[in-house]
Amino acid sequence: MIGLAKQLVRLFHSHWPFFCGGPRTRLFVSIERGCSFRYRRRITVGRGVRFLRGAVLLADPNGTVTLHDGAVVCRYAVVQSAGGTIDIGERSSIGDFCSLYGQGGLRIGRDVMLASGVRVIPAGHTFDDPTLAVVLQPTTARGVTIHDGAWLGANVVVLDGVSIGRNAVVGAGSVVTRPVPEGAVAIGAPARIVRER
Ligand SMILES: CC(C)(COP(=O)(O)OP(=O)(O)OC[C@H]1O[C@@H](n2cnc3c(N)ncnc32)[C@H](O)[C@@H]1OP(=O)(O)O)[C@@H](O)C(=O)NCCC(=O)NCCS
Repeated sequence: MIGLAKQLVRLFHSHWPFFCGGPRTRLFVSIERGCSFRYRRRITVGRGVRFLRGAVLLADPNGTVTLHDGAVVCRYAVVQSAGGTIDIGERSSIGDFCSLYGQGGLRIGRDVMLASGVRVIPAGHTFDDPTLAVVLQPTTARGVTIHDGAWLGANVVVLDGVSIGRNAVVGAGSVVTRPVPEGAVAIGAPARIVRER
């Protein structure tokens, strides 16, 4: 009986952002243990979205996070709006330990796969004045778009202002500094196009 009570408490705890009418949700959202959500009213979650163990979603007063139907946020991934908009398309998966930020806007299309440890940072610092600490100089936030069907291998880093084309592939460990066209395979740091699919 105590076990059952504990289970119910756990169930409520892990689902409370949704029971409390926080994010605008539809049916069948699943949230594993250890997930956390901030500014729940600014998080929108579609049908069948799954949050695996330890996933963290951080919206804020100026930023929103939207996950469309069937999207998956895997273990310990962090999705943080940071004053911008993050939009994750239908059936796209955000791998374990990914870090996604939204400063300049992050748009991820449908059926996109981000493997474990991918980092997308749509922001940067300028450092034109060498006499000033970088932290005191203006920031940039141009935004990142990852189009439908793209696959980013493990530990890929995507820098601000970049777009990755439809069905493109980016090799594990690459640093994407320039746009990757539709259907291209890009590898390395900086990522270079090595062939078409
Ligand atoms: C990009 C990738 C898809 C290319 O696969 P492929 O077309 O089969 O390429 P190959 O293995 O034939 O390699 C072609 C060349 O690129 C090199 N290469 C392949 N992947 C590379 C990478 N990520 N970084 C640097 N070089 C790479 C190979 O060493 C090889 O070089 P060579 O011709 O000098 O020997 C694959 O290497 C990759 O990175 N996959 C991601 C794996 C992953 O992250 N999985 C997570 C599970 S979702």
